[in-house]
Formats: sequence, structure tokens, C-alpha cells
Amino acid sequence: MAKTNAGILGTGHSYPEGVLTNADLEQIVDTSDEWITTRTGIKQRRKAAPNEYTSQFAVRASREAIERAGLEAADIDLILCATVTPDQILPSTACLIQAQLGANQAAAMDIVAACSGFIYGLSLADTMIRTGQSKYTLVIGAEILTRYVDYTDRGTCVLFGDGAGAAVLGTVEEGRGILAAKIRSDGRYEEQLYAPGGGTKGGFTAETIARGDHFFKMKGNELFKVAVRSMADVSREVLDYAGLKTDDVNLFIPHQANQRITDAVASKLNVDSSIVYSNIAMHGNTSSASIPIGLDECVEAGRVRKGDVILMASFGGGVTWGGAVMRW
Ligand SMILES: CC(C)(COP(=O)(O)OP(=O)(O)OC[C@H]1O[C@@H](n2cnc3c(N)ncnc32)[C@H](O)[C@@H]1OP(=O)(O)O)[C@@H](O)C(=O)NCCC(=O)NCCS
Repeated sequence: MAKTNAGILGTGHSYPEGVLTNADLEQIVDTSDEWITTRTGIKQRRKAAPNEYTSQFAVRASREAIERAGLEAADIDLILCATVTPDQILPSTACLIQAQLGANQAAAMDIVAACSGFIYGLSLADTMIRTGQSKYTLVIGAEILTRYVDYTDRGTCVLFGDGAGAAVLGTVEEGRGILAAKIRSDGRYEEQLYAPGGGTKGGFTAETIARGDHFFKMKGNELFKVAVRSMADVSREVLDYAGLKTDDVNLFIPHQANQRITDAVASKLNVDSSIVYSNIAMHGNTSSASIPIGLDECVEAGRVRKGDVILMASFGGGVTWGGAVMRW
């Protein structure tokens, strides 16, 4: 039997119209454009309106990805939606997306792996396609993080933005598609980025809401170090597994968390800044959406050619991390 690989057949992305600039944040919290720019590289981020919700952006990104793959929604047999900001607790956002798309043949489930969620999805899609359990898998990263940001906490509120990215995967010829993917976690670092309210442990009462337990809490400094180490390590691991070197990489799309994190990972890996994608100035950290949005922006800008080697790496709350390398 011929060996099959899973590869990306089409990509898409979508953002809310609303923009929150550093100047806007200066009016809300004790910060400055100068501090945010120099410490993070972020100049603005998208912010959903109160009546907008996660699946709307996911569906727009997915429709684009399905169309570019030359498929119909009914061809999709598996939908994996990576999100930590679902429309609601039950059912999964993936099911709500399945209904809105009319993807009548698809199983659907969410992946809760924070900023690594899209890489988790790629890894699962790769396995499902290579083992013949799925023909066409739709992997989505979609977030409305601004709903869970405490705008009195200057250490977190400047970082996060909203958006969605999607990719349709199917079989591709041997030697192309996903060459290696690795996903990891270490829950001992739970408190580096977490939201304790709203679950069975923390509860969801007037007191938890008044305390702001549902908002993200973060130890930014500690997470910074874990981020750089884990993204660099997993990048080397997937390249080794695929029998490639950093010199073979044509495009590196790291999770967009902080320009200083991106620069430190690129420097550890010894890759030239010209092949490292960054959109953090315009969009901040969109968690699971950041890599698929970045990938689609690169596709749209003509930065990806057939045969190119693309490296992706991410880390996030959990903590989780993961990497993937593919030949386009
Ligand atoms: C959050 C982050 C930008 C903070 O940058 P940093 O250089 O580590 O800054 P520190 O936390 O050490 O704080 C330095 C000072 O800046 C202050 N500061 C923090 N946020 C500020 C803001 N928005 N504006 C102005 N000052 C700020 C702090 O209060 C501190 O002041 P102090 O020295 O008087 O106590 C950075 O640690 C980071 O990006 N970490 C990773 C976070 C991340 O990626 N999270 C998502 C995971 S997917």
C-alpha cells in the first residue's frame, strides 16, 4: 500500500473589525505605547464587539480554507477546533461550526491546549489522515481572548487579541505535507497562565465573578523563559525527526506571543530573521489562532512556494507546547 502523507490543501483567516491600539490602552490602564512596543512589539490588536462570538470568525476562516482547498463543506469528515474561548461550555464550538458550515458528514470536537491548540490539531489530523480515518480534516484556531482579559491588569491586557485561522488537510504525495509533529505538556506549570473561575473546582458564582476569577492570570516573566526553551527544543526535535536542519527551513512561523520571544527562539535556532514570520505588531497574541492566521497571511502574500519547508512552533497555558515541520 502506498504511504500517504497529510498536507494542507487550503487555508483561511478572519478578524473582527474592531481595533484596540496602544493609544487606546493608555486611556484604560497605566501603560504607554513606548513600553508596549519595546517590551512586546505590539502596536494594536483586534477586539470583537460585545455581540460577536468565537464561532463566527471560525466559520469565516473555515469557509475560505474549504473553498481554497477546492472542496465543499460536506466533504469535511472531521472538525477540530482549538480554542480556550468557546462560544459556550456545551456543546463544543466545533459542533456549532459544523452546523453553521453544513458539514453534514463531520465529527467535531474542541481541543483545549491554549496557544498550542492549532499544532495539537495538526498532529491529530496528521494521524487521522495517515491511518485512513479521515479524508479531509478541518483544523481551526479561534479565539476571542479580549473577553477574558482583565483591563485593570497591565501585565496581561496589552498582549491579547482576537481572530481565527483555519486549514483543511487531506492526503498529499509522499515527501510533501507534514513531515513531523510533536506535542507536549507539563501541568505542573498550571499557574503560569490560568483562569481559575467558571469550572467545577473554582465555581461560577457572584463572588467568583466579582473577584475576576474568570480572567486570565499570568506570570509573564516565568512563562517567557519556558516559551523560549520549549519552542526552540521542539523545533529541533521535529527537524531532527524529519532529517532536516535549520538551514533547510524556508519559513518559520512561531506562535506570536511577544516579538522578544520570537527573536530569542530564532537566535537559539540560529535562523535568519528574514525567514521568521511576525504579525505581532498588528495583532498581538491571538493564542491558538496565531499560527494558522500567520500561515494564511504568508500564503496570501506569496511567501510560500511549492516544495518550501515550513517550521511552526508554539507554547501556551497548561503549559503546552508543540512543533510541526511540513513541505508545502
Ligand atoms: C508580559 C511581559 C510582556 C512582561 O514583560 P517583562 O519584560 O517580563 O516585564 P516584567 O513583568 O518583568 O515587568 C517589568 C516592569 O514593567 C511593569 N509593567 C508590566 N506591564 C506593563 C505595562 N503594560 N506597561 C507599563 N509597565 C508595565 C511591571 O509592573 C514591572 O514594573 P516594576 O519593575 O516597577 O515592578 C513578558 O514577560 C512576556 O511577554 N511574557 C510571556 C507572556 C506570554 O507570552 N503569555 C502568553 C503565553 S501564550
